[in-house]
Amino acid sequence: MQYLLDTADVQAIQRAYDLYPVCGVTTNPTIIAKENRPFFEILRDIRNIIGNASMLHVQTLGKTAAEIVKEGEYLHEIVAGNIYVKIPVTAEGIKAIKILTSKEIQVTATAILTAQQALMAAVAGASYVAPYVNRIDNIAGDGVGVVAEIVELFNTYKLETKVLAASFKNIQQIHGVALAGAHSVTINGELMDGLLQHPLTDWSIDRFSCDWEGVYGKNKLVS
Ligand code: E4P
Repeated sequence: MQYLLDTADVQAIQRAYDLYPVCGVTTNPTIIAKENRPFFEILRDIRNIIGNASMLHVQTLGKTAAEIVKEGEYLHEIVAGNIYVKIPVTAEGIKAIKILTSKEIQVTATAILTAQQALMAAVAGASYVAPYVNRIDNIAGDGVGVVAEIVELFNTYKLETKVLAASFKNIQQIHGVALAGAHSVTINGELMDGLLQHPLTDWSIDRFSCDWEGVYGKNKLVS
């Protein structure tokens, strides 16, 4: 399982990179706009924290293939390190995915709500597809089910494209896509913390401390 961070908040990125086995950051225009400062300054600050080897997924805004390709090429040229150009799965987006991947620019197909969108994007050459689990659930769909279908299709057709499940609101959704065989999840820092939280873990740790202190007082294992 690859864990990525779905945020452009540099403090949250710094904290999560310190604590967790994170291998990349994903952004979209909404996430970037929340920071309310220059776009390329945000990307530069993120890159300085995560290093050149970490994946940085950055979304295009163009509507036509020509616009998307122009933006993708620019991002590829200007952003240092391991970059993936995120492209929504419209018909023009698929055309842009074909063009950019033929130039060996790595692409993540995004805004995926169905398994057929993911299959088309993978055949077009995308390295990752990003199904929006919670947005599917929000319209009475089955987000985890769609991810499971995508994993199955990629296995059936022996496609190397990875599933980067996105758009989560709770741990159950993350657990579901992990069981379904998603290669990666992109989540915010709170959900990453949530993956570890359990009241009985806290209780157990308190109990260990209490039992230890009952015999050894405040002495540490190593002083
Ligand atoms: C990431 O690539 C997606 O853009 C993101 O996870 C969407 O999340 P949201 O549905 O919580 O906005």
